[in-house]
Amino acid sequence: MDKIVSLCRRRGFVFPSSEIYGGLGSTYDYGHYGVLLKNEIRSRWLRTMVQERDDMVAIDSAVILNPAVWVASGHVAGFSDPLVDCRTCKLRFRADKLDDSSCGRKPSKRPGETPDCDLTEPRQFNLMFQTQVGAMEDASSTAYLRPETAQGIFINFKNVLQIARRKPPFGIAQTGKSFRNEITPGNFLFRVREFEQMEMEYFVPPAEAVQWYEYWIGERYSWYLDIGLRETMLRVREHSAEERSHYSSGTSDIEYLYPIGWQELEGVANRGDYDLTQHTQASGTKLEYVGPDGERYTPYVIEPAVSIERIFVALLCDAYDEEVVNDRDRTVLHLHPAIAPVKAAILPLIPRDEGMATRARTLFEELRRRFAVEHDDSGQIGRRYRRQDEIGTPWAFTIDEQTLEDETVTVRDRDSLAQERLPIGGVAAWLDEALARPWRTPKT
Ligand code: GAP
Repeated sequence: MDKIVSLCRRRGFVFPSSEIYGGLGSTYDYGHYGVLLKNEIRSRWLRTMVQERDDMVAIDSAVILNPAVWVASGHVAGFSDPLVDCRTCKLRFRADKLDDSSCGRKPSKRPGETPDCDLTEPRQFNLMFQTQVGAMEDASSTAYLRPETAQGIFINFKNVLQIARRKPPFGIAQTGKSFRNEITPGNFLFRVREFEQMEMEYFVPPAEAVQWYEYWIGERYSWYLDIGLRETMLRVREHSAEERSHYSSGTSDIEYLYPIGWQELEGVANRGDYDLTQHTQASGTKLEYVGPDGERYTPYVIEPAVSIERIFVALLCDAYDEEVVNDRDRTVLHLHPAIAPVKAAILPLIPRDEGMATRARTLFEELRRRFAVEHDDSGQIGRRYRRQDEIGTPWAFTIDEQTLEDETVTVRDRDSLAQERLPIGGVAAWLDEALARPWRTPKT
C-alpha cells in the first residue's frame, strides 16, 4: 500500500487533504489524474447500470435530508459502533476490534493488555455526522450528512413509480458523497470519512427477491472482470446471519485481495421490504406498487453498493508493477485502457524541431476533442515514456524524423512495449478501434 500511496502523490492522483495546516486524519484531495480516474469509474458504472439497461433510472437526491428519514431508516438508533475509551492513554477503540488495535503507549500493546490500561465499558457511538440547518442551534434544527445514498432513493420511490411509469422489477441508481464519522479510518482511501458511493436499489416482486439477489451478485462480479481486475484477486463471500445489517435477509460481499488482505469491495444485499415499510409507517405515504388489475404489494429491494474509493484502490493495486526494461527500472500501471485516466500521449521526439512540434500539436488538437490525451514535450523521450507508464497511459504516439518524410507516427504499447508505425491521419480511427479491443492484464 505504501508504494501505491507514494505513486499517487508523486504523480498527482491523490494528496493528503489540508496538508499546509498539518492535514486532517484520513482525508484526501484528488489531483488531476485522480479526478480523471474517478470520472472513468463513475461514468462506466452509470453506463452499465443505467444507460445500457431498460429497467433503470437515475436520481440525484440531497445530501441533507429531513432528519425523520434517518429515524425511520434505523440509522439514528442503530448506525453505531461499540466503543471503549482508555482513561490512561485517552485513546478510543472499537470494542469489537480490540485484538486488531494498538494502545497509545510504547511499546504498543493490545488495549487492555497492560495493568495500566483502564478501559471504560463499551458505549454505542453513532457514525452519522450532525449539523444544524438554519440559524437556530437546538434539537429542532439538528440534521445529518447522509451516511448512505440509498435512503434518498427510497423516499423518491413514489415519484419514480408515477412519473417514470415503472413496474417492478426496476431499479433506481445514484452516485454521490456519503459521510461517516469512522472511528478507525485508514489504509489510504479504503476507509475514509467522506466517500463517493454508487448505489442501486432494485425493486422486485417479493417472490423473485432471491433470484434477483443471485443475479446482481453475478452481474457485479462480472463488472469487475470487465474493468480489468484479475479473477484470482476477487471472490464472493456470503455474510453469516450475525454479520448482516439490521435490514438485510441476505448479504454477499464481493471482496478484493487488497494489500491488507481480503476486504469488502462491494456489498450486495437483499433488504427485503424493510425500507419501504419503515418509510410508509413513518411518513404516512404508502410506498407500494399497485398494478393495473388492482394487484398491490410492497416490493423487495436488492441493493448493490460500493464506493469509488474502494474501486480506485483495487484498480491501482491490481495495476501496479515494477519491471526492469533494458536494464532500467520502470514503474507501470497496467490499467485497462478503457479506464485509464489518459488514453494516449502525443510526443514530439525533438520538441525544438518546428516540423515535429507543429505536427504533434495538430494531432493533439484533433484527438483531444474525442479522447483524454496528453501532449508532452518536456525532457528526454525515455523519461516522457516512463512518466506516462506511471500514470497508466496505454499508448504513446511519437512524431519523429520519419514523420516529416512520410506522415507516419510510431505507436508504443505500454504493456508489450511493442512499436509500430501508422499514418498520422489514421491515428484517431486506430485509437477508437484499440479502445474497443478486449484487454487482459499482463500481470499474473
Ligand atoms: N446502502 C448500504 C451501505 O451503505 P455499506 O456496506 O455500509 O452499505 C456500501 O457500504 C459500500 O460503501 C461498501 O461496500 C464500500 O464499498 C463503501 N464504503 C463504506 N464505508 C466506506 C468508507 N468509510 N470508506 C470508503 N468506502 C466505504
